[in-house]
Amino acid sequence: MVLDMGDRMKRLRTGLVALVSLALLAPPLGAASPQPTAASNGMVVSAHHLATDAGVAVLKRGGNAVDAAVSVAYALAVTYPEAGNIGGGGFMTVRMADGRTAFIDFRETAPAAASATMYQDASGKVIPLKSTRGHLAVGIPGTVAGLELALGKFGTRPRAELMAPAIDLASKGFVLDANDAAFLSEGAADFARDPASAAVFLNRGKPWQEGQRLVQADLGRTLTAVAKGGAAAFYKGPLAARIAAANRAGGGIMTARDFAAYKAVERKPIECDYRGYHIISAPPPSSGGVVLCETLNVLEGYDLGAMGFHSSSAVHVTVEALRRAYHDRNLNLGDPDFVKVDTNRFTSKAYAQDLRAAISMDHATPSTSLPAPGLGKEGQSTTHFSIVDKAGNAVSLTYTLNDWFGARVTAAGTGILLNDEMDDFSAKPGEPNMYGLVEGPNNAIAPGKRPLSSMTPTIVTKDGKLFMVVGTPGGSHIPTGVLQVMVNVIDHGMTLTDAVNAPRIHAQWLPDVIFHEKDALSADTRAALVAKGHKLEQMDYWNQVAAILTGAPGVGAKPIGNATLYGAIDPRLPTGTAQGF
Ligand code: GLY
Repeated sequence: MVLDMGDRMKRLRTGLVALVSLALLAPPLGAASPQPTAASNGMVVSAHHLATDAGVAVLKRGGNAVDAAVSVAYALAVTYPEAGNIGGGGFMTVRMADGRTAFIDFRETAPAAASATMYQDASGKVIPLKSTRGHLAVGIPGTVAGLELALGKFGTRPRAELMAPAIDLASKGFVLDANDAAFLSEGAADFARDPASAAVFLNRGKPWQEGQRLVQADLGRTLTAVAKGGAAAFYKGPLAARIAAANRAGGGIMTARDFAAYKAVERKPIECDYRGYHIISAPPPSSGGVVLCETLNVLEGYDLGAMGFHSSSAVHVTVEALRRAYHDRNLNLGDPDFVKVDTNRFTSKAYAQDLRAAISMDHATPSTSLPAPGLGKEGQSTTHFSIVDKAGNAVSLTYTLNDWFGARVTAAGTGILLNDEMDDFSAKPGEPNMYGLVEGPNNAIAPGKRPLSSMTPTIVTKDGKLFMVVGTPGGSHIPTGVLQVMVNVIDHGMTLTDAVNAPRIHAQWLPDVIFHEKDALSADTRAALVAKGHKLEQMDYWNQVAAILTGAPGVGAKPIGNATLYGAIDPRLPTGTAQGF
């Protein structure tokens, strides 16, 4: 069955909403709020309880936050195949307690045989699903290289020790709970079309059920090989040859040479200041840090706290700032190894002042009045985890297969679900994509290039001390999710739990619409925004924020006992835990 882009979007959203119905929804603001998870010796917040457990166990044994991150990432690759992965890629923002910062880029790259028009037909029309389903959608995975780079630079524990929980969970299996089973069933129809996926992610052709044990023997063997041989075992040995051969047998273009050429790289994080807080976030090839800092710089000129949470004026200026930041994102950003991007300009206070000067408090700026580039797209199905150890070392890690379960194909004999990250390139600059993101030629496909991302793993400090670790999945909704949690804590004085649970809005230049969660905006507020010229549309849930705050549950709030770390996981998805000790 071929689905058009609208159907694909609906299908993804339907899956998400069905899962959300299993979740506890956000409590109304002002009701007795649940407190964040409080602890003093370490905190892990991730999308799966077994991965959180693995990370906490590392911290308890005296490993640091980077050690724990490696353990959590490999565990998620087993227990959360929706987005946890070794067949995808992502970004890690690190801040060590001594003030050192690092950004590890392990984004996937386009295979050497990729071309700018590979997803277009002879008449130049983009062929639906070609960049999202099946082996041609796959970029060269970066996760193993990224975790290896981080561990080599900051880790203190042997790789094999950190990978042991993942290997056990894969080889011996784990018992699926209701959420695990519901998630897996969302991919069932596609798994049935790919024998290598069906062999693992279906139980004799049927969706797995709650209470059944999912064993991933091939993945266990693959992880064991990586535990012994490190990145070389993944990128240079028989494993790379096997993944590439499986990919080509399925119609893909990956070669063993592509794997040998892959490198995770360390980049300088994007940094900016907002009302006395210092933000450390994701640089290109992610757009996350630029969008976040550009928006915060504009918002710094308005007293959001006095305007009030989701007042029409606060929403108006936020949307106007986002409109301009996403416009710059889509027009300008791309892989910095391929295109020149002046991130300093977009994140400067002077630039924000110019943008602010063009914002009217009375009227929405029509998005079409800002010059239009080409188009792009972005999967929403990613996962984020946040970790702080006793010493105050912090990791903010977001990684992804792009869509839930990536391209929904498995490299036969390896247990590795493969990403569809090629879809984050602009398959045809100049045409609107299924998520409405409009991008310029800077994000066109080229061999070895990294597709533009929105992942925004972020760390915030105050007066030189760790303040917050935050991130989320959600494709183009990632920067807005991170932004709103920060603003809720810093400007609206919410506790971390309230800030994470609070209803959200989203805006991204095009489509020229304020998307809002149910109950995010009162009828009065909606009417006031429409009077300014905004269009409104209710949206489903997009984010699963995983955040940690230090010192107290909120700015100026009373600490809980002696606790110094406070963790919160977004209730919008029914999986995930915050656990400390
Ligand atoms: N694939 C989602 C992102 O990178 O933003």
